[in-house]
Amino acid sequence: MGKRTIVTLPGDGIGRVVLEETLRVLTAAGFEANYVEGDIGWEFWIKEGEPLPQRTIDLIAKHKIALFGAITSKPKDAAFEELSPELKEKNLIYSSPIVGLRQHFNLDICLRPTKSYLGNPLNFVRRGANGEIEEPAVDAAIFRQNTEGLYGGVEWTNPNDVVYGGLMTHPKFVKNFGKTPKEEISVSTRIFTKKSTERILRAAFEHAKKYNYPSVTLCEKPNVIRETSGMMYKMAMEIQKADYPNIELWNTNIDAQMMWLTKNPENYGVIVAGNMFGDIVSDGFAGLIGGLGFAASAQMNPDTGIGVFEPTHGSAPKYADYDVSIVNPIAMIESACMMLDFIDEQDIAKKIRMAVAKVVSEGKVRTYDMCKMAGKPDVIEKGAASTQEMADAIIKQMN
Ligand code: NAI
Ligand code: MG
Repeated sequence: MGKRTIVTLPGDGIGRVVLEETLRVLTAAGFEANYVEGDIGWEFWIKEGEPLPQRTIDLIAKHKIALFGAITSKPKDAAFEELSPELKEKNLIYSSPIVGLRQHFNLDICLRPTKSYLGNPLNFVRRGANGEIEEPAVDAAIFRQNTEGLYGGVEWTNPNDVVYGGLMTHPKFVKNFGKTPKEEISVSTRIFTKKSTERILRAAFEHAKKYNYPSVTLCEKPNVIRETSGMMYKMAMEIQKADYPNIELWNTNIDAQMMWLTKNPENYGVIVAGNMFGDIVSDGFAGLIGGLGFAASAQMNPDTGIGVFEPTHGSAPKYADYDVSIVNPIAMIESACMMLDFIDEQDIAKKIRMAVAKVVSEGKVRTYDMCKMAGKPDVIEKGAASTQEMADAIIKQMN
């Protein structure tokens, strides 16, 4: 079999450096691939008026698997201001290339694993009944519906007459908002479809089955958001009953879940939620295992085999131009391991994860975030490892 081709999307800021170090780790682990770089991000918005050029979409369509660093996004006015002069008359509107990728390829399954590494000084700790310090082992895999719900983009300020007329057919709208002038109303919809809801639920249950998690927790709010969360809960119960009788289905509300995740995070295994609640609960759990330097993610469409793997963090522009990069590459390296799982290279993924675990638990090489330092150029003098030194340490463990 010929070598596989992986599309690399470094993007902006620290995206490039964490990706570069990750490719070194992949190669050292024995993963053989060709890499082709795709253009994405702020630079292409400024130069071409398009942060996600068609040629990049074509590359991903062709090779199916992409490793993505991070991009920079800026508010509407700043985006227009930085556009090159000849593009300014063209009425271009900036839109996030990440959302663009998700929608174009229907990458509706987002997985964000949050598993604590033994010995990580950033791990969550709590006090036990007798004052002792406890460090619960966190291992929650969060499945977030990635294309619909509150982030679906169907929204209006001062809605047009047809939309307003439609809203006025709802008795609650009439009662609560009917007297407010239309111009003073903003509406963001939360649309769930049965098909996508079923896909994310089934992905969560399948993951639980494959990796022996005893429970799947639906984290929504069906008692208040009766239609969307309610539909998801009903479907979760049906799917569990019919196809996964040995896996428990738990139902938590997003607000209560945010409290429980600091009280008893070790009780949760697979968690599944709609787009926004999935975003919230995954950030919450990521905070328990070390934060942005450790938070990986996968966005996948299992039907087409297309997957984009990226750290949760952004481009961290304030660290982008450091002579010696100080950011933690582990989130990107973990994201690459998720790619390896997706393309059936679990053995290599395991090898890398074991090396990362060893480096973290030995504690000799730690980036500034793991040393709990403020991110400044002098962290290296103070003993923090650089991005490259962290990758070197992981590579050394594998040899
Ligand atoms: P950010 O994630 O880029 O950085 C926030 C802070 O987290 C940093 O200042 C740093 O202290 C820390 N941090 C981030 N990555 C780290 C790493 N690997 N190791 C150690 N510390 C790390 O988020 P911010 O500052 O809100 O946004 C910066 C830019 O990134 C914006 O333009 C934003 O739109 C974009 N962004 C892009 C994302 C993506 O590409 N998926 C996601 C989030 C933000
Ligand atoms: Mg987020």
